[in-house]
Amino acid sequence: MNADKYRLLSDAAPNELENLAKQVNASPWRQHYHIQPSTGLLNDPNGFGYYNGRYHLFYQWHPFGPVHGMKYWYHVTSTDLVHWKDMGIGIEPGGEYDSHGAYSGSALAQDEKLYLFYTGNTRDKDWMRQPYQCLAVMDQEGHITKHEIPIIDAPPAGYTAHFRDPKVWKAAGRYYAVLGAQRLNKTGCVLIYKSDDLHTWSFIGELKTSLADFGYMWECPDYFELDEKGILLFCPQGLPAEKDRFENVHQAGYLMGEPIAPEKPHFQHGNFMELDRGFDFYAAQTTLSPDGKRILIGWMGLPDTDYPTDMHGWAHCLTLPRELSIKDGILLQQPVKGVELLRKEKYTASHIVHNTKIQLEEIKGSSYELICELCMDDAAKAGISFRTGDTEETQLYYDAVSKYVVLDRTRSGATMKNDSGSVRRYALDATKITLRLFVDQSSVEIFINDGEAVMTARIFPAKDSNGVAFFSEGGNATFNAVQWLYR
Ligand code: FRU
Repeated sequence: MNADKYRLLSDAAPNELENLAKQVNASPWRQHYHIQPSTGLLNDPNGFGYYNGRYHLFYQWHPFGPVHGMKYWYHVTSTDLVHWKDMGIGIEPGGEYDSHGAYSGSALAQDEKLYLFYTGNTRDKDWMRQPYQCLAVMDQEGHITKHEIPIIDAPPAGYTAHFRDPKVWKAAGRYYAVLGAQRLNKTGCVLIYKSDDLHTWSFIGELKTSLADFGYMWECPDYFELDEKGILLFCPQGLPAEKDRFENVHQAGYLMGEPIAPEKPHFQHGNFMELDRGFDFYAAQTTLSPDGKRILIGWMGLPDTDYPTDMHGWAHCLTLPRELSIKDGILLQQPVKGVELLRKEKYTASHIVHNTKIQLEEIKGSSYELICELCMDDAAKAGISFRTGDTEETQLYYDAVSKYVVLDRTRSGATMKNDSGSVRRYALDATKITLRLFVDQSSVEIFINDGEAVMTARIFPAKDSNGVAFFSEGGNATFNAVQWLYR
């Protein structure tokens, strides 16, 4: 089984990938405007950066099926963050230091080159893991050359082999990297390294936070500064679920605080906040746009979870890129402006709904953007059903009694085999709410009140479940909606 999962593309049987691609292309859940793998499994976004006049983005890719095994970096580029050009494989694993996968990492544009930092995953004959932090360099022609030896060849003393996902940045003429790590006592943390030339790296120490025992491993860290705040993104694994928090199998979130001094890494920060309040979101990574905006993109999926597309030979996609800002101490996330380039026909619907549900004639579809202003009037509960069919619907509503925005995928279509529930809630005290939905063939991303919260979900409805309805219970609610079809 392992040998099968760790095959390289050069080991493919004749027509294996072509046959798999046929199966994948027949899947009713192929997305129309999200980055997805041609076959097999996509996970983390990697190497996100702006270089040589365009955005470069890579993702973790296992070609042969919807399983985690040998990982490639697959490369796409864009000038607007919504139309992506397929550039093929970026980093191929299989060398001495990445024999079992080119795992996640980041990019830094420097000296007319794009430096790509990644974790080389290896296993010995006893299946013991040994991670190496590796470097590959892309030139202006787009050729990527792997550096022959690792830049960091082992975890420092005191940490296990769960040591990966370098994110590199430059500050005051020096380079720094944060890496996800696990202490010997099986708790997660972030380690900091420094370099003067991007090749020779030395260990500074552990980034001291107030979270000494917060999950068994921290994956995919990212550190950046925004509006004079320091922000650390990371994915703590294995946090116990709490009421309306940490309900997914692993979490993706951030700490916000004073900017860190990387050479004396002590982080004064507030509470850990989830980046997304929906179901399927992990391993987010950011970069700076040429005009100084902080852009985030995430994996619209989770580790250790099966998905209905598995039976079609593929799994997962990336989220839309989001622009970050800070307001009143919280991180706002808005879809990048470029999404407007996807807009085609426009439709509108305005209704006062009296204690009933109305199926809309004027709005339907399976790939669209919908902006809806919902005014609760005196309703106890009111919201939108979308991707509705005879027996299916996904519900997004406000419950004015418990004061929650609720996303319910109980009846969305094919279901997930997990036990983390089919409802997510976001606590909000409001009478008027703006909901901005991005619906694709098998997903929805919901931006609440200009990005104060985002709820992301994969959903797996039948192809003809294309309806949209407004509903209210226990009183009236007013809906003013604009829809743009995306195809
Ligand atoms: C997170 C992760 C990373 C690792 C990569 C392997 O989803 O486990 O920590 O580098 O995926 O694909």
